[in-house]
Amino acid sequence: MDIALDLGTNNTRICIENEGKVIDMPSVISYDKTTNEILAFGDEAYQMLGRTSNRVDVVFPLDSSVIAQSGLVEELVNIFLGEVCKSRVVMPRVLACIPGEITEVEKRAIVNAISSFGVRRVLLLESAKAAAFGCNKDIMSPHGTMLVNIGGGSVDIAVMTLGGVSVGKTLKIAGNAMDEEIIKYARRQHNLVIGKSMAQKCKEAIGTVMYEENDRTYRLKGRDAVRGLPKAVEVTSSEIMEVIFDIAKNIAISISDVLEETPPELLADIHTDGITITGGLSNLRGMKEMVETATDIKVEVAKKPEDCVVNGLYKAIDYIDEAESQKNSLNPLMTVY
Ligand SMILES: Nc1ncnc2c1ncn2[C@@H]1O[C@H](COP(=O)(O)OP(=O)(O)OP(=O)(O)O)[C@@H](O)[C@H]1O
Ligand SMILES: [Mg+2]
Repeated sequence: MDIALDLGTNNTRICIENEGKVIDMPSVISYDKTTNEILAFGDEAYQMLGRTSNRVDVVFPLDSSVIAQSGLVEELVNIFLGEVCKSRVVMPRVLACIPGEITEVEKRAIVNAISSFGVRRVLLLESAKAAAFGCNKDIMSPHGTMLVNIGGGSVDIAVMTLGGVSVGKTLKIAGNAMDEEIIKYARRQHNLVIGKSMAQKCKEAIGTVMYEENDRTYRLKGRDAVRGLPKAVEVTSSEIMEVIFDIAKNIAISISDVLEETPPELLADIHTDGITITGGLSNLRGMKEMVETATDIKVEVAKKPEDCVVNGLYKAIDYIDEAESQKNSLNPLMTVY
């Protein structure tokens, strides 16, 4: 059995051979702090976010797409793989994604977390390559393709050709950083203390990084920072734009930085084909336009952008046998462990 695993900072998505996507849940786990017993995971644990007692903690154990709290990541991976792999007669092969820029230690931590489930083989593929597969880009030919995956914890920018990454960059500031800015803004401007999921919902509902004629509003609910009582404040899309704009701008500038380092032949291909953006944050209003302005190249938001990475991993399952047999070849498509 082969499993495609997109263990994201915010969401985990899993596809299994012959069935397609079987899991799409927040990468979150809740546990009892006194006994260390795991209480819930995924959607159920997400409901507990910000609603816990002093005994229960709810955490997103992955931070910036690399392993922040390794024990809990291991637990989470084991729960998710256990959900999709009920029969333990055949050990599965797991193909997972990793950020483009990652240290050997971080990579090893991911491999160890997956291996702890008892797998036959772990294979790793960079997120940008996976996303490119997921939106049917031909990255194996001698032709330049630029793809940017913009998620919750990281942004992966890559120019690919011949199955490899020619120029790439990983940023650790993405959707979650915007949520943090919204939390700080509510506190500073409105004396309102809000939680992470409220900030995220607000960004998804009215967030924008381009000027729009009509302001939209969102009711932020939380606690009055001074009186400690429940409080709600209406915020507008232009207010939120000011708060999250710099982060989006930084992403767009980083993309143009990567283009500056791109060899001219590949650059010509990208100029003709355009840039594709994937990942949840590419749904943000104005993100596409901002990248177009920064690069002067047309940008396409992939269909169902948040699913591209796992769809691509799923497609890449077809290449696992080949990768295993050429374990030591130069410039391999995926890394075999
Ligand atoms: N409609 C939307 N508008 C704005 N932001 C959105 C929208 N939909 C999703 N997002 C944001 O996308 C991010 C999640 O994207 P995604 O699921 O691709 O991340 P991830 O794979 O878990 O993280 P990473 O790849 O960085 O490890 C969150 O910040 C979420 O708020
Ligand atoms: Mg992701």
